[in-house]
Amino acid sequence: MKHLIMIGAPGSGKGTQAEKLAAEKKYNHVSTGDLLRAEVAKASELGLRVKAIMESGELVSDAVVLELLKANIDLASDAYIFDGYPRNIDQAKALNAQILGDTDYTAVYFVIDTEVLVERLTNRRVCKDCGAIYNLVGMAPKKAGICDKCSGELFHRKDDNEEVIRNRIDVYNGTVEPMLNYYAELNRLEKIDVAGGKENTFKTLLSVIG
Ligand code: AP5
Repeated sequence: MKHLIMIGAPGSGKGTQAEKLAAEKKYNHVSTGDLLRAEVAKASELGLRVKAIMESGELVSDAVVLELLKANIDLASDAYIFDGYPRNIDQAKALNAQILGDTDYTAVYFVIDTEVLVERLTNRRVCKDCGAIYNLVGMAPKKAGICDKCSGELFHRKDDNEEVIRNRIDVYNGTVEPMLNYYAELNRLEKIDVAGGKENTFKTLLSVIG
């Protein structure tokens, strides 16, 4: 299996699809956002440094994220889904040079109109224990505030408020193009429409990753 790089705006469904793909197709899922949030939750020295940056919707420094990523993957095991990394052209080049090397991969770009993202993210809820992702509109848990899968408590991410969401989208729009061009020139880029529901998107995703 090839490694998979997911590129898409905040709320485009990277985490949702990665969770499903990891459960059904034996990928390892690594999300730099989740790794950083775990550092914030345990109030590590790194977590304390990045907390305010994340809460404002800006990007954490490339060097910090790269080190954290390297410390949490083992490419000798099964294929990986990289969710939320890379975020800019320098991260894309670092991923190729320092992590992927000659290994095979596909970069999948999640195409969506940014107008729907604010609604998706303000209604997102995530399980504190297993990380399962819900939405109060359309993908709600059976019991309010409780995870269907593990009965963990659901929470609302601090950066999922409208002002910060809009900044995250601006940050994304300011960095994505050179990265897309980079993967297109390497003949690694697949684009998928992710405006449909979770299951439709999953089918489309499977059709491009083979
Ligand atoms: P991160 O955690 O990566 O957040 P993000 O990129 O903003 O992405 P999200 O997790 O918000 O969205 P998603 O695409 O995974 O959507 P989801 O599947 O949950 O990063 C957070 C912060 O960490 C950054 O702002 C930055 O500070 C820092 N950071 C992280 N990586 C970094 C890096 N590489 N460099 C520097 N800094 C970094 O879906 C969203 C909602 O929509 C859910 O409610 C879901 O149920 C719903 N939904 C999903 N799919 C569908 C569908 N098809 N139809 C309808 N609803 C859907």
